[in-house]
Amino acid sequence: MPPLVAALGAVGIGAAWRLAWTPAATRFGGTIRVGRPDDYQVGESRHWADGQFHLVRVPDGFLALYERCPHLGCPIPPPRDGVFECRCHFSRFALSGERLTGPAERPMDVFPVGLSGESLVVRTGLAAVRQRDAYDPGQALKP
Ligand code: FES
Repeated sequence: MPPLVAALGAVGIGAAWRLAWTPAATRFGGTIRVGRPDDYQVGESRHWADGQFHLVRVPDGFLALYERCPHLGCPIPPPRDGVFECRCHFSRFALSGERLTGPAERPMDVFPVGLSGESLVVRTGLAAVRQRDAYDPGQALKP
């Protein structure tokens, strides 16, 4: 076999191996692994900055709340005492993302949450954002 063909064959095998072992996405726009359901307590929230969401566990299950405020899009920091508060115009939201007070006219938007094996996964990106008129327990992924 000519050396160039052998070299291309080796590159091809290497590329296939890398594709097979590409880790899950870790950035906004990808599907991000966020741990196992048992890693979270009810009432807990974790901010996944690279994915631009807060993963919360409410009594009904898991929600991935888009960190952008539904009022004018400011980033919403992690909750304090179970309440999210946007620092731009002070809209406040419950852990479920439900609007409590302020100029925002709807709850925080969400990304789809699913299970891949034993791991929770969140599909992120602008095409994955879902707006809600209100919180409904059916929106939460049951553990
Ligand atoms: S951008 Fe959040 S309240 Fe205005």
